[in-house]
Amino acid sequence: MNELLKQDWYVDLINDCIVIIVRGTSEYRWALIEMYHQLGHRILTENDNFERKKIYGREIVQRVAQSLGKAKRSIYYSVQFAKKYPDITSFPEGKNVAWRDVVHKYLPEPKKLEPQIILEPLKGTYNVIVIDPPWEYGELDFQGRRGAAPYPTMPMEAIKAIDLPAADDCVLWLWVTNRFLREGFECLDSWCFAYKNCFTWVKHAFGVGNWGRGQTEHILLAVKGSPKVDFGSTPTAVFGKRREHSRKPDDFYQMVEATCIGKKLDYFGRQQRQGWEVYGNEPDKF
Ligand SMILES: C[S@@+](CC[C@H](N)C(=O)[O-])C[C@H]1O[C@@H](n2cnc3c(N)ncnc32)[C@H](O)[C@@H]1O
Repeated sequence: MNELLKQDWYVDLINDCIVIIVRGTSEYRWALIEMYHQLGHRILTENDNFERKKIYGREIVQRVAQSLGKAKRSIYYSVQFAKKYPDITSFPEGKNVAWRDVVHKYLPEPKKLEPQIILEPLKGTYNVIVIDPPWEYGELDFQGRRGAAPYPTMPMEAIKAIDLPAADDCVLWLWVTNRFLREGFECLDSWCFAYKNCFTWVKHAFGVGNWGRGQTEHILLAVKGSPKVDFGSTPTAVFGKRREHSRKPDDFYQMVEATCIGKKLDYFGRQQRQGWEVYGNEPDKF
């Protein structure tokens, strides 16, 4: 046997086999990587369609994975790969690399799902409700916009399913960002409130945005029954400085107090206010 191992023809045979195996494995590995890249690239080309259907980030991955019968992680990493290296030839390693290593060394981990927040349900009902939902922007927005909220967010279906503790006669103030205007109206329908007017917070400085730099947020005013209100000549513009992320101006609360009568609730509020109940997971933040 040892004699055989030393024979030239046998050494050549083994060397050739090694070359064939290395080349084959490398080609196979690279073909697999190209496949993931093509997959991610193809999904990214539909971003506008997904946006029009209001399907973002995690949900896109989930739906495509489900339709293909593939693991969500594979779809997620394919998209991340194509996003990070739109041109596959710019990938920094040679072709003899395993997909596993591409994933671990070069691609971001998917964001962990938020732990569920469980709060004691509210007792009683309110005549005046301000609600400022933690809209979910989607952590994998393909345009590179990330859900940058510094607090946990809720999927749209969960927000729409909120059981508002509204009295029979209730006035509702729903905060919406420009991006979530449509969803705001969907919430009003789902909560059975009738839309009355739109108020706008005009901030002293503008923020980010590709189609106009954001300087406004809106509050949809809606009612149920016949709440007691006195709007007099209250204008629909609210002013007040931009402060911490998502923090709403005191001028707004003063306007609500001046126009609406009855038990008041600040749903998802983060600051205690005299005459108000605050409900959320961080009611004493400010
Ligand atoms: C848009 S912020 C509210 C900002 C607030 N109106 C202000 O002016 O500071 C949404 C809040 O909802 C909280 N939140 C997120 N998910 C929640 C949940 N499932 N239950 C209760 N509160 C939640 C967030 O932690 C955050 O404090």
